[in-house]
Parts: sequence; C-alpha cells; structure tokens
Amino acid sequence: MLTNADLAKTVDTSDEWIVQRTGIRQRHIAAHGEMTSDLAVFAARAALADGGVEASEIDLIVLATATPDNTFPATATTVQAALGITHGFAFDVQAVCSGFLYALATADKFLISGQHKRALVIGSETFSRILDWTDRGTCVLFGDGAGAVVLEAQEQPGESSDRGVLTTHLRSDGRHKSKLFVDGGPSSTGTVGHLRMEGREVFRHAVGMITDVIEDAFAATGETAESIDWFVPHQANRRIIDASAQKLHIAPEKVVLTVDHHGNTSAASIPLALAEARADGRIKQGDLVLLEAMGGGFTWGSALVRW
Ligand code: ACO
Repeated sequence: MLTNADLAKTVDTSDEWIVQRTGIRQRHIAAHGEMTSDLAVFAARAALADGGVEASEIDLIVLATATPDNTFPATATTVQAALGITHGFAFDVQAVCSGFLYALATADKFLISGQHKRALVIGSETFSRILDWTDRGTCVLFGDGAGAVVLEAQEQPGESSDRGVLTTHLRSDGRHKSKLFVDGGPSSTGTVGHLRMEGREVFRHAVGMITDVIEDAFAATGETAESIDWFVPHQANRRIIDASAQKLHIAPEKVVLTVDHHGNTSAASIPLALAEARADGRIKQGDLVLLEAMGGGFTWGSALVRW
C-alpha cells in the first residue's frame, strides 16, 4: 500500500492536495515481479468462487488491460493457462479505463450468439509500471489491481432474461489521443513509455461524456436514476464521480466509491468496486447496477446489469 504521505516524500505534493482534488488517500502497488496476469488470476479465482463456477466450465476469457505482461501473447491466454483451461478461447481488450465495459459488452455478445456458455470478464492493470514517478500531476492518481466477473448464457440463445447484462453503450473519439496517452510502444518508440495526461482537459470532457452514455442506457431500458440500486462508476476521481451522480440525480447513498483506497486502477476499477460491494453485502442478487467509465482515446461507455 502506498499512501499520500509516502508519495509526499518523493514528489512535491501533500495529502491535503491529493485528497481535495481527487479523493484518493492510498493505492496498492503490485510487488516486484508480480504481473498483470498474476493479479488477474487472483481476481478470476475469486469471481469463480463467488459464482460457484469451476474453471473448467469457462469457455471464454476476455481480459481488459492497458498494461499487459508482454506485447504478446495476450495476457488473457496466460490467465487461461494458469487456470488450467485448454478449451474455448481467450483474448485481451484495450480501451484503457473503459476496458472493462468493452470486455463486458464483447463477452455478452458472444454469449448471446449461443456459441459460448460461460465467460470470465477480467480487468487487470499494473499502471505503476507506466507512471513517471517524478510527475506529480499523474503519479499520485493511479494504483494497481484486478477484478473479475463470470457471465453465464441463458439456456436458449437470444432468449431475453431479467438477469445479466441488460444493455451496453460504447463510444470512442480518437481525436482526443494527446490528452491522455502513453509516450511509448513497440511500433512508435520501441520502449514501454510513460503515461502523459492533460488533467484539466480530461476533467473538462469527462462528466458530459459519462452522463450522455448513461442517458443512452436509461433510454434503451426505461430504467432511471430512481430505479437503479447501485451506481458503480470507474474510479478515477471523486470530483468526477460526484459531479456525474449529481447531474444524473443519482442519490449519493447508491454510489459505490473505492477511489479513496484504490486510486485509479483503470480497467480494474469497476470490477474491483463490484467485488467490494459484493463482499460487504451491498450488491445482492436481483439488484440493478449501473456501470460507467471514461478514459484514454477517448473511450467511454455504460452498462446496466441485473445481478
Ligand atoms: N500535488 C501538488 N500540486 C500539484 C499536483 C500534486 N500532486 N499535481 C499538480 N499540481 C499543481 C500543478 O503543478 C499546478 O500548479 P501551478 O498552478 O503552480 O502550475 C496546480 O497544482 C494546478 O494544476 P492542475 O493540473 O490545473 O490541477 P487540477 O485542479 O486540474 O487538478 C487533476 C489536477 C486532479 C489531475 C485534475 O485535473 C483531474 O482530476 N483530472 C482528471 C484526470 C483523471 O482523472 N484522469 C484519469 C484518467 S482518465 C479517467 O480515468 C477518467
């Protein structure tokens, strides 16, 4: 665990500044040698246990990450092997902070098609490996982590159900690349690079994009801020979350917040928050859960899920 006070020893910042601007108090950093796949396997096992599903019953793994173990193979295939799964298929999805929603939407389509029965959807990141630890404008914001969910197909392909993923709405607009990106990569510099961000610009766009795509989810389903049980947003920044909830008239007690103790874990933040709200008994079977995220690209999206 890395606290704001720990960071203040290495960069010119303070607990007060970080808490006031972001709501973040601490974050977790993967141990030396601990990779995105290691965190993902841990999260996958927890999700399988929560769902009462054996690893051998999984025939699809979609893993969202912007910090893969290697350029290739996909980290999802490393997870597949670690879980002892040799059937079905596994691949990565890259949409940075929106990655989990992209992965969820993708897995849902495969299940609806009838070709696959049970999917593991994972968000796993080790952003500590791509941070510039001398840049106080970014290094205080992020943490490492992983979370996962299991999706199961209905008996009849195409059959609608009152449980599971009810709707997903994904968007991207690549014109915003320079506002949030990593200044390296195999085909550009041949280096891993570091995260670079124009924080104010990201902030300026975030609330409008998030609320638009949530309104799309409400319009598609007839659900409302009143009918949802829980709002589980991407955990980037307390101010963005509060402003979005307020604009949508979502009651503060419905908002699941983990950014204070996890920081921004990119694609892992939503499934980590879901895991926490499941473990402490908040999210129960039958609950209607609203998810949203926005991140580099820009990419953004929403999902409505009946647990
Ligand atoms: N500690 C102390 N001072 C700092 C720090 C720090 N960690 N970081 C920046 N500052 C200083 C700046 O240098 C600047 O000083 P100056 O006025 O002397 O030049 C001052 O604070 C204000 O800087 P801004 O960047 O304008 O600060 P702002 O109020 O915009 O807050 C923040 C910065 C928190 C990054 C904000 O822009 C933000 O939350 N943006 C959203 C970014 C985000 O959440 N990105 C995550 C990825 S995208 C996603 O997941 C949605």
